[in-house]
Amino acid sequence: MMLLITRRLPPAVEARAAAEYELRQLNMESAFDPASLLDSVAGVDAILCTPADRFDEAVIRQLPKSVKVIATFSVGTEHIDIAAATAAGIEVRNTPDVLSVATAELALMLMLMAARRAGEGERLLRAGQWRGLTPTFLLGRGVVGRTLGIFGMGRIGRELARLARGLDMTIHYHNRSRLAPELEAGAIYDADENSFLASCDFLSINVPGGAATRHWLDAKRIARMRPGAIVVNTGRGSTINDDALIMALRNGHLAAAGLDVFDGEPNLHPGYLTLENAVLLPHIGSATAETRNGMGFLALDGIAAVLAL
Ligand code: DGY
Repeated sequence: MMLLITRRLPPAVEARAAAEYELRQLNMESAFDPASLLDSVAGVDAILCTPADRFDEAVIRQLPKSVKVIATFSVGTEHIDIAAATAAGIEVRNTPDVLSVATAELALMLMLMAARRAGEGERLLRAGQWRGLTPTFLLGRGVVGRTLGIFGMGRIGRELARLARGLDMTIHYHNRSRLAPELEAGAIYDADENSFLASCDFLSINVPGGAATRHWLDAKRIARMRPGAIVVNTGRGSTINDDALIMALRNGHLAAAGLDVFDGEPNLHPGYLTLENAVLLPHIGSATAETRNGMGFLALDGIAAVLAL
């Protein structure tokens, strides 16, 4: 069986793929190049791609009939037109669960960094501008005991709630529907979005990307948040209206933001780069060695399950 891989993967994952399949490796490095994919895809049974590779309807329609499965090295699938894949008889597999802890850990780190002004402090120190401890220098906000609002209480959201409980945080969440008590684990369900937004000292965005959540955090919703609240996003950049968030960070309505994902990444709104109160990371939520191996192995399991059918 032939497997096409669009980008370099962790060595252990590439080694397993090479042991199980005849490989075609494109090693794309930056922007997705559909032409080189389509040039190399003849006779391929399965494709292993990443969230940086856009399998829209036009690309999917040009795939040969031999392709039975596209597995993405991600939990997110918004870069794949699933309806078009289904119509073409192609199954789509992703990598849920294995990255929940790593992503929740990064969300918590962003909360702490944003609240305690860690990025700002480090930049200042590296620039040789630290003049020593003074009582009023770089005062941040505490995290322990505050209220965390989680928008999207799926696997990653629930993992974040579990970690945040260790910091004595009160957890609120907003979802399409209320979770069963054992999944809720004491978190407070706010069916009403307005009361949810008004309850958060910290808002963590953990919903999938796509049309349903596009620009959900806009000026109107930000206005309903507590003055001085902090926004953290480890889901998808498209969930935030960047102009609205940048405005609120500039005018002080929001104290800070911690962002690991950006609309249009790897490009980002240049306004963020001017803000000391924005902690900015290059989409590393799942970037631990063990998690990335787990994602790769799960993607290969998904491919094997489809091809064995
Ligand atoms: C995902 O899996 O969708 C993450 O955003 C990338 O690790």
